[in-house]
Amino acid sequence: MDYTNMSAYYDVIMTSGYYDYPGIVDSLLSHPPIQNVIEIGCGTGLILEEIAKREPSMRLKGIDLTQAMLDIADERLHGYPNIELSQQNVVDFDLKEQFDVAFSYGGVWYFVIDGDKEPFMVSHIADHDLNVQGLQHLSLHLKSGSQLLLGIQGPHFNYEKTISNGMTYAQEIIPTDIGFIKHYFLLDKAQEVMAQTVNYRTYTFDQAKELLGVHGIEYVSKDPGGKFLRFKKS
Ligand SMILES: C[S@@+](CC[C@H](N)C(=O)[O-])C[C@H]1O[C@@H](n2cnc3c(N)ncnc32)[C@H](O)[C@@H]1O
Repeated sequence: MDYTNMSAYYDVIMTSGYYDYPGIVDSLLSHPPIQNVIEIGCGTGLILEEIAKREPSMRLKGIDLTQAMLDIADERLHGYPNIELSQQNVVDFDLKEQFDVAFSYGGVWYFVIDGDKEPFMVSHIADHDLNVQGLQHLSLHLKSGSQLLLGIQGPHFNYEKTISNGMTYAQEIIPTDIGFIKHYFLLDKAQEVMAQTVNYRTYTFDQAKELLGVHGIEYVSKDPGGKFLRFKKS
């Protein structure tokens, strides 16, 4: 799913409390030893920057579908020679390299956990066959014994709030047969300055475990920091 519409406003929305980037990286770095890491759907590079500040020698790679997001990431990360970015669609990427850790936070795939209910997987890719293809390509990039960390988010709901630049961020969720549609808006006074719609597909926890299990990627546990579900490649 292309994020060009949101790219210019992405950082201000996300850093106004949408994601807890330091907490995400605390969780990520609690799984040593890690030498090389790939982020799937790295967006504007906010997580990669936070990792590199703390672990300057770690080899980091970020892939993302949206060039406009990567342009911002490029600018943010130019002082970090250990970070490499690449414009790729996860459904057909082939970097000819394998990693100790792959993670995605709000990127292509993530889990929603609503209280005591079972987690369900959310995908930015609406088409089922393309999800199968994407997970197959992801698995080719995982070393035997490596970890796949998929981010956890709370339940989505309709709301609006004022963000740090004074604009109003709003989101609307509409259930569909395959998952849900999410409309994102940014308003400056009453004027709409950004609108983006994503058609998400969802999978039950069992379906997600089956899709990953085909590639020898097995569920291990919820991360102690509560930011990721941890999987291991056999
Ligand atoms: C909500 S953003 C998350 C960005 C980043 N992980 C963060 O935490 O700020 C989702 C990102 O996933 C990317 N994405 C969506 N579908 C993709 C695909 N098929 N292949 C690669 N990246 C994709 C989008 O371009 C977008 O930058």
